[in-house]
Amino acid sequence: MGSKIYPHDFVKKKKIGEKIVMVTAYSYYDALLADKAGIDGLLVGDSLGMVIMGYPSTLPVTLDEVKHHLRAVVNARPRALIVADMPFLSYEVSKDEAIRNAGEMIKMGADAVKVEGGLEISEIVEALTKVGIPVMGHIGLNPQRYLMLGGYKLRGKNAEDALNIIESAKALQEAGVFSIVIEYTTWQVAAEVTRAVRVPTICIGAGAECDGQILVIHDLLGINPTPPPFVRKYADLHNEILQALSKYAEDVRKGVFPGPSESWGISEDELKKLKEYLKNTKTE
Ligand code: KIV
Repeated sequence: MGSKIYPHDFVKKKKIGEKIVMVTAYSYYDALLADKAGIDGLLVGDSLGMVIMGYPSTLPVTLDEVKHHLRAVVNARPRALIVADMPFLSYEVSKDEAIRNAGEMIKMGADAVKVEGGLEISEIVEALTKVGIPVMGHIGLNPQRYLMLGGYKLRGKNAEDALNIIESAKALQEAGVFSIVIEYTTWQVAAEVTRAVRVPTICIGAGAECDGQILVIHDLLGINPTPPPFVRKYADLHNEILQALSKYAEDVRKGVFPGPSESWGISEDELKKLKEYLKNTKTE
């Protein structure tokens, strides 16, 4: 295991052509396992709204909810970079509010924060980076804007949209981001962005010509049985967990769990004493 990964290490990785691997993490064990696997970055994503809380979108997620899960990830003390997502309305209202909210998560142990949006939020990003808060951008599909976008639709399908995405990436770079997530965007546009900026691009559903990749941990482990189309499942934990829980329930009902090796006894002498005591004790 090497030393702690910081935002500038992401930029170094792009320079030397080393791919960056990220995954979302919401719990102590998510973080522990991902770190053990050598993952470079952990995002405490607002996707927790769906995969942890069961909300229909990321819009209801609060700063307190992200902080709760951030605390668990920080407690794992990972070598990986910890990025805390800024939920909807925690950074858009004013620069002051954005700095205060992002700053709270940095004080808790996040190494950086992530905000959704491009050109339209570049001034907010600049305010954050100016006070020393490392920021990861997020362009292409912005789930926090799905109402305006007419759903979770593929971005960069026409030249005008592609140009807007590329200009957004450049504006974010100017504002001081150390990396940019590109979500559900045509691969050629993601590749153009990757060529156009010095900071690394971390893609999700935006092709292979990026500097790194990120997936939601519940999707790649197959806990979520209906992930987005761009996900590759590396395990089928939904069915494995289902089988394990069903077998546990069956064993308890049949009386075969716990078994002798999962139970602990008192010595014969002490048991005799206890029985004697119970015999001599009046019960109502
Ligand atoms: O919240 C999240 O998990 C994300 C990733 C999809 C990048 O923003």
